[in-house]
Amino acid sequence: MSGTGNERARKTAEALVYSPGFGNEHSSEALPGALPLGRNAPQRAPLGLYAEQLSGSAFTEPRAHNRRSWLYRIRPSAAHPPFTRAGNGALRTAPFAETVPDPNRLRWNPLPEPAEGTDFLAGLWTLGGNGDVTQRAGMAVHLYAANASMTDRVFSDADGELLIVPERGGLLLRTELGLLRAEPGHVALIPRGVRFRVELLDASARGYVCENYGQPFVLPDLGPIGANGLANARDFLAPVAAYEDVEGPVEVINKFCGNLWSATYDHSPLDVVAWHGNHVPYVYDLRRFNVLGSISYDHPDPSIFTVLTSPSDTPGLAGVDFVVFAPRWLVGEDTFRPPYFHRNVMSEYMGLIEGAYDAKAEGFVPGGGSLHNMMSAHGPDRDTFERASAAELRPQKIDDGLAFMFETRWPMTLTAQAAEADHLQTGYDQVWQGLERHFRQ
Ligand SMILES: [Fe+2]
Repeated sequence: MSGTGNERARKTAEALVYSPGFGNEHSSEALPGALPLGRNAPQRAPLGLYAEQLSGSAFTEPRAHNRRSWLYRIRPSAAHPPFTRAGNGALRTAPFAETVPDPNRLRWNPLPEPAEGTDFLAGLWTLGGNGDVTQRAGMAVHLYAANASMTDRVFSDADGELLIVPERGGLLLRTELGLLRAEPGHVALIPRGVRFRVELLDASARGYVCENYGQPFVLPDLGPIGANGLANARDFLAPVAAYEDVEGPVEVINKFCGNLWSATYDHSPLDVVAWHGNHVPYVYDLRRFNVLGSISYDHPDPSIFTVLTSPSDTPGLAGVDFVVFAPRWLVGEDTFRPPYFHRNVMSEYMGLIEGAYDAKAEGFVPGGGSLHNMMSAHGPDRDTFERASAAELRPQKIDDGLAFMFETRWPMTLTAQAAEADHLQTGYDQVWQGLERHFRQ
């Protein structure tokens, strides 16, 4: 998109209003009277609209897990021609079998710059993941690098919800339910099946995507923390209804069981004039995260930094947790303050949105990432260990970075393109070499 297009998208993005509250029963109408009151499916919906339910859970799931939205639209979604297979580009889907699972600690530099004219969808590149999409279990890690807005096409993912983590460049997400602005430092959550188009607010955009095949992300329980803290529900912003009334060819790309399918509609499917429900997209500013930690000694496990969790059938065991390492004070007495040395049954993919991460002095850069797979030994690098072990323990503000983790219950298997990438670093193991023997008898 041209610079003018970026500016137009930014002007739109900066004027957006939202409906706050994670998990709320939101409702919104772009035109007065478009939303039926007192019933979901009147004999004739207002303004000549079609009523359509979008189910994100089985009808019969418990109320606390039940997710659906009612959409009132110019054309029903059913009015479309057949889908035909489209190329998958660099997108891959579980089960991942291109490589054998790798026990090594691995780290990547950012994706190379994309070819001119690459939009968000074309710029998606899969690193790896786990599970089986047809079982609605597991997750995938994708990165994206784009320099063009999506025009005349929209995307929807039947395989899972998409947690988009911009690292460079703002995004305007035009979804069926309305518009969202996602800048670096924000995350956007697009529910399974919701169609959307991505326009760029800047000349280029880069970031990370967790595709969650499993149960939808929810806010973690807080237990003894109490009624408030971590990511507060009111800081999640849903869109308000906004529709486009476009008659003309619009390509809809549908990701279904790992493959992309294309159909050219004769109208825009972003034609929802009113809606209500709880199967809705959100945007959330990670800087709103209420970081909790120790005010005595040690620091809690990083689960204390969980923003969103995708539960499994086993209590406390997440399909994937989304965890943020946000600016915070460290005040622990007689405490080694960086993240501890660790081996973990869970697998940890980490990315960096800005600045630096307090356990790695160098090599872990914004737009890059690291994978510490199941039971691989990791922790602070040599320089960080030496510095932290000798530091005078005064209250210390960690305020120069924003890192995150997708932590998942199953080991991740890489795609071939990730295992063979030029931007896969060699020698990552070196950061733990030279950790001196200090043992004394
Ligand atoms: Fe860890």
